[in-house]
Amino acid sequence: MALDVGSSVAVGAAAEPARPLQAGPELTLVIPTMNERGNVAELVGRLDRVLAGVAWEAIFVDDDSTDGTRDEVRRLSLADGRVRCLHRIGRRGLSSACIEGIQASQAPLVAVMDADLQHDEALLPAMLACLKHEPYDLVVGSRYIEGGGLGDWNKRRANISGLATRLGRLVLKTQIADPMSGFFMIRRDAFDRAVRSMSAVGFKILVDLLASSPKPLRLKELPYEFRLRHTGESKLDAFVAWEYLVLLADKLIGPYIPVRFVLFSIVGGVGVVAHLVILGLALNIAHLSFAVSQGLAAGLAMIGNFTLNNFLTYSDRRLKGWDFLKGLVTFALVCGVGYAGNVGVANYLFASNSSSWWLAGIAGAAIGSVWNYAVSSVVTWKRK
Ligand code: GDD
Ligand code: MN
Repeated sequence: MALDVGSSVAVGAAAEPARPLQAGPELTLVIPTMNERGNVAELVGRLDRVLAGVAWEAIFVDDDSTDGTRDEVRRLSLADGRVRCLHRIGRRGLSSACIEGIQASQAPLVAVMDADLQHDEALLPAMLACLKHEPYDLVVGSRYIEGGGLGDWNKRRANISGLATRLGRLVLKTQIADPMSGFFMIRRDAFDRAVRSMSAVGFKILVDLLASSPKPLRLKELPYEFRLRHTGESKLDAFVAWEYLVLLADKLIGPYIPVRFVLFSIVGGVGVVAHLVILGLALNIAHLSFAVSQGLAAGLAMIGNFTLNNFLTYSDRRLKGWDFLKGLVTFALVCGVGYAGNVGVANYLFASNSSSWWLAGIAGAAIGSVWNYAVSSVVTWKRK
């Protein structure tokens, strides 16, 4: 049976006052920001010039900037409806910000670029033409092909970037000169096929995307020269390198075992060693009683574990200030219960004579660490 769609639309249209129809954008620019107040107006002005004639929109994904970036974006968006702001609280990370920005938009083509004007916006029309007229899924702004460059990067940073690029090849399914690039344009359908497998850790969204795509993406690189930051400061710090390693690990072992759990367990192992060292020192050097030494060792190891997990395992949800202290208390409570479970299970297995002492010990430790990990991830480092 054919539905008479035309007439039902006509009836609806007659009942309501006529509203002008406006087609949606063909291109969404997703721009992650953290304290970029001085750059956003300049960037929007440049986008307006280079993308004349293109139906575009820009989404700034702001991780709770404290410098008034959002006020600036909202001021721009009142003057120009193509500009929007997505405000995230209690989360951090360039990649996850870009992913959420892409998911909050509808255009069939999406570009990701930095807010600080280091990426050359003049490349955007060529990227767009490439995706519209040629059989590609992805166009990458590349610094490592003929015609591209690193601008005034010092040798050390260039070396680190080169090393990161070589490491990235471990997980990539596609040949690419500049997988570290944070400047690219992609077809939404290609992104949608990859997004469920993405790790969304750290800074390197392109590595994540290429490694997560179920089939190799058809990609083209276009050269550009990495420019100087317009104003403001870089967010690149030691944790960016750490998060990159976590991303690579997640791409390699993530389908089998969560990397966070591995990190949590390694930190736990470090805690056991720290516990024994402190216990030995307290007993033999400070000559404290066993009970006091054991209590001291357990308390310090717990604080150490909490701090390490907060920096390394949960670097994207790091607790600060008061939240750090509250987190320490909930972590101690969670681990206390885990400890009881560990000893209880091990005791039960050992007493029932069904297993040897070491099997009972391992089973208790496994139950305790899974409990600690699972519960602390939803209580101590809960997502906001
Ligand atoms: N929302 C959000 N959350 N934005 C962030 C975060 C975050 O945690 N961290 C950084 N940003 C934003 C910055 O505000 C900026 O707009 C952009 O991401 C890039 O950050 P920079 O701190 O300027 O990075 P960079 O210049 O060192 O690194 C750039 O170069 C790399 C090339 O090696 C980035 O473009 C990378 O994506 C690129 O791969
Ligand atoms: Mn930058």
